[in-house]
Amino acid sequence: MNQEVANLLGHKQENPPKEILEIGCGYGATMLQLLELLPTSTITGVNLSAEQLTIAEQKIAASRHAQRAHLQQANFQAIPFQADSFDAAYTLESACYGDGETKAKFISEAARLLQPGGKLVVIDGFKKHSHSLPGWIDRIQRRCLTAWEMTSLANIDGFTAELKSQGFTKVAVKDISWNILPTLIFIPIVVLKLLAAQLVQKEETRRQYIQALLLTLLLSPFKRHFGYFVVTCTKSNVELEN
Ligand SMILES: C[S@@+](CC[C@H](N)C(=O)[O-])C[C@H]1O[C@@H](n2cnc3c(N)ncnc32)[C@H](O)[C@@H]1O
Repeated sequence: MNQEVANLLGHKQENPPKEILEIGCGYGATMLQLLELLPTSTITGVNLSAEQLTIAEQKIAASRHAQRAHLQQANFQAIPFQADSFDAAYTLESACYGDGETKAKFISEAARLLQPGGKLVVIDGFKKHSHSLPGWIDRIQRRCLTAWEMTSLANIDGFTAELKSQGFTKVAVKDISWNILPTLIFIPIVVLKLLAAQLVQKEETRRQYIQALLLTLLLSPFKRHFGYFVVTCTKSNVELEN
């Protein structure tokens, strides 16, 4: 997946982006791989969790890319950087944490921070339609969102319409649900490992995480309702009229 992001950001092009923003960088794993693949780019990772950022910082400090990496603790809906600071941005499984059904605040902050012509790559899970879900699927979905500590899952058409209304052009959507099938197969293994660690090493229970993983697995066959997508778009060069 990280290779896919690098390709989409144009790492093989003559002029790859210089200043890249990762929105919701977690423990910094993607940042590290992209710093490797994009040797002339600087990457700034933004994340809400100070705990995750501390681990990301340690990993980056131990790499040979520390000079080209920055970390910032912030809510990605109000990032303390000036407008037009970045010429590209990407986000993996983090846009889903934005407020609201269309993730409007997440999108407006990305639009503010990107220079005109800057590319945004979003990889995430989405609903495939805006109709109501069958009762029991909806109940599982709600439990799953709670376990992941998310408020709502955007539907892909609503999300792309929001991108366009906030001045993004060249909006392209690719459904890669089938490509992530191998990852889903690993969920039972991860759950068993977590349970074993809990039993053998008396590790702290990670009940909520285990629940989130299992509910995600349970929902994954319902491809008519849910999907995993790559969305790419470009901030328009034309100013939006208010
Ligand atoms: C599922 S994790 C994905 C992390 C990383 N992109 C990855 O692929 O490993 C979602 C991340 O979004 C971060 N996050 C959630 N809400 C956020 C917000 N409002 N502002 C900044 N980061 C946020 C979480 O702390 C978490 O690291």
